[in-house]
Amino acid sequence: MAGPAFIGPGAADAAFVRFVAACRSALSAEAEPAPAVAAAMRGLLASGWQMADARYCAHQPGRQYGSYLLYRSADTGFVVILDSFAAGQTTDIHDHGTWAVVGVVAGVEQDEVFKPAPGTDAPVAGPIRLCPAGSVTAHAPDSLHRLRTEPGTDSISLHVYGADVGDRQRNAWSETARRWVRFRSGYANAAMGVPVYLGDAGADLADRPR
Ligand SMILES: [Fe+2]
Repeated sequence: MAGPAFIGPGAADAAFVRFVAACRSALSAEAEPAPAVAAAMRGLLASGWQMADARYCAHQPGRQYGSYLLYRSADTGFVVILDSFAAGQTTDIHDHGTWAVVGVVAGVEQDEVFKPAPGTDAPVAGPIRLCPAGSVTAHAPDSLHRLRTEPGTDSISLHVYGADVGDRQRNAWSETARRWVRFRSGYANAAMGVPVYLGDAGADLADRPR
């Protein structure tokens, strides 16, 4: 059976196209697709895959990171995102509102897991996982975490989410306000003038600010 037809800069990236096709199969076959997506990502990273198009690894002007939409499934809504972080960067503690699979392509990331504290809004620190290049971690829909890059090493990581996390309101913990705040992360594609890396045939590859 013929696979889906893809367009965009990533259509020539055979390993990435196979990875997205495997994610699509996992979402159509599994009620809980994260384990199969994680297995596909382990295979992609073990093959030595790197993002060859440097535009998708660039930090945004004035920022210490870049976050690019590589693929958005028109029918199931899952997304694939590439994040690049400068050395020493730390995200806020945040949620995703859906399952997530994160693989480190280059560098080392520290993944700090948190739990809501009983009887209070403040998150409570849980395990810290050190994630070198090639490692893959999965997060449940109710997971809270913070990512940190090691001093001295930039990182690049590949993320798959069960929904379009860049285009929805999420929750982040504000240390200064000591409360959860709503935020929408968006993507760098429009600001940096690069199209979505891979699209379903017939898709509009522009990631317009919304
Ligand atoms: Fe996250």
